[in-house]
Amino acid sequence: MDQIIVTGNGAVNGQIPIAGAKNACLTLMPACLLSEEPLTLTNAPRLSDIKTMTELLESLGAEISTLSDGQVIAMSCHGEMNHVADYEIVRKMRASNLVLGPLLARLGEAVVSLPGGCAIGARPMDIHTDGLELMGATIELKDGYLHAKAPTGGLKGAVIDFPFASVGATENIMMAATLAKGTTVINNAAREPEIVDLADCLRRMGAQISGDGTSSITIEGVDRLGAATHPVVTDRIELGTYMLAPAICGGEVECLGGRLSLVESFVEKLNMAGVDVTETDKGLKVARKNGRLKALDVTTEPFPGFPTDLQAQMMAMLCTASGTSVLEEKIFENRFMHAPELVRMGASIEVHGGTATVHGVDKLKGAPVMATDLRASVSLILAGMAAEGETVVRRVYHLDRGYEKVVSKLSGIGAKIERVKET
Ligand code: EPZ
Repeated sequence: MDQIIVTGNGAVNGQIPIAGAKNACLTLMPACLLSEEPLTLTNAPRLSDIKTMTELLESLGAEISTLSDGQVIAMSCHGEMNHVADYEIVRKMRASNLVLGPLLARLGEAVVSLPGGCAIGARPMDIHTDGLELMGATIELKDGYLHAKAPTGGLKGAVIDFPFASVGATENIMMAATLAKGTTVINNAAREPEIVDLADCLRRMGAQISGDGTSSITIEGVDRLGAATHPVVTDRIELGTYMLAPAICGGEVECLGGRLSLVESFVEKLNMAGVDVTETDKGLKVARKNGRLKALDVTTEPFPGFPTDLQAQMMAMLCTASGTSVLEEKIFENRFMHAPELVRMGASIEVHGGTATVHGVDKLKGAPVMATDLRASVSLILAGMAAEGETVVRRVYHLDRGYEKVVSKLSGIGAKIERVKET
């Protein structure tokens, strides 16, 4: 396994290009199952999760080719299809469950392995399956697989009230509803930009969708969907992650492709801590004001609230802010695994259940640390960039799931960082 060595090297300056969103691409790709016409995605990120989704869709019968060094993904599902999503692939990535809705809508049946838990939580699928059952599907759990069948004549439109604004469930139901008979309304729907991006892509394919980006989405079923080419929306989590580099290290960095609308609640917190963010015609320019960052309180919430996927990275910044910060993780039950690793670097953090209290220290010190999940891995790198001395981050395969070219992007703004084979 590889490891990343990062050495504190002072302020960072320059530009970082932001890629297409992993969490948009992972729901846009299964949309190809809904039509026998081709779906082409541009501005796709080059990540291991995208490779895993490609492998899964090919196992279901999709023909997929990539161009322009992986930034263009051309998919089509016009031949023989298979409705079984195998555990060997699904266990690698929870987002594999996003083939459930499209398979049910297109083929009338689906057998999808339950993804199983992951480092950050149990990650059940009850909101997905309850919604599909309201649309007439019968779903039973057998040997760790969900066996789903649509009624003869296909899924029917339904009014579905979500108990929680689940991102994945909103995506699965929205895709299933595009080919259902009649109208589907999802209340308490997720409002993330990735939901709007999926709706934009489905509309390009001929779907009738309105209300995406609000808590109530209406989908009028149509008989079939057609071909489309769609650009993947900018990755707001990669954007927020790299905005923290100048915030933590000092200096000024422009994140190319960034837009304020993608990270409003995150920028509000940065401003409160003493970080300047200005929108330019190329992206978002970020610079730390003079003096030390201020402590602040953060609670993660569904969009437009503070994103859970930026909580670990924000904690890395708050480790050296002046004062005490309180972070509340309300989305996942176990998403503070980066805290003990930051403590190894000299941070002062107490975790009690879903609350982490961070007492700012003057400086962190480099140390050997372990990446435990995708977002934790990059928070350790950010901390290492501002720490005294050398930090060695192990298990960086987590990183490859969600951050393309992280070493070259961070070296490009002056970070002292390299990737080596584990000794
Ligand atoms: C998506 O996961 C993202 N993944 C996650 O990003 C992100 O953290 C999450 O949304 C929240 O924003 C992708 O888009 C591929 P949820 P998802 O359904 O869809 C509970 C990353 O780092 N829940 O909104 O799985 C669930 O257990 C990843 O890029 C149920 O109880 O998130 C969790 O506690 C991590 N029953 C909460 O809701 C259900 O049926 C949020 O889940 C579904 C979810």
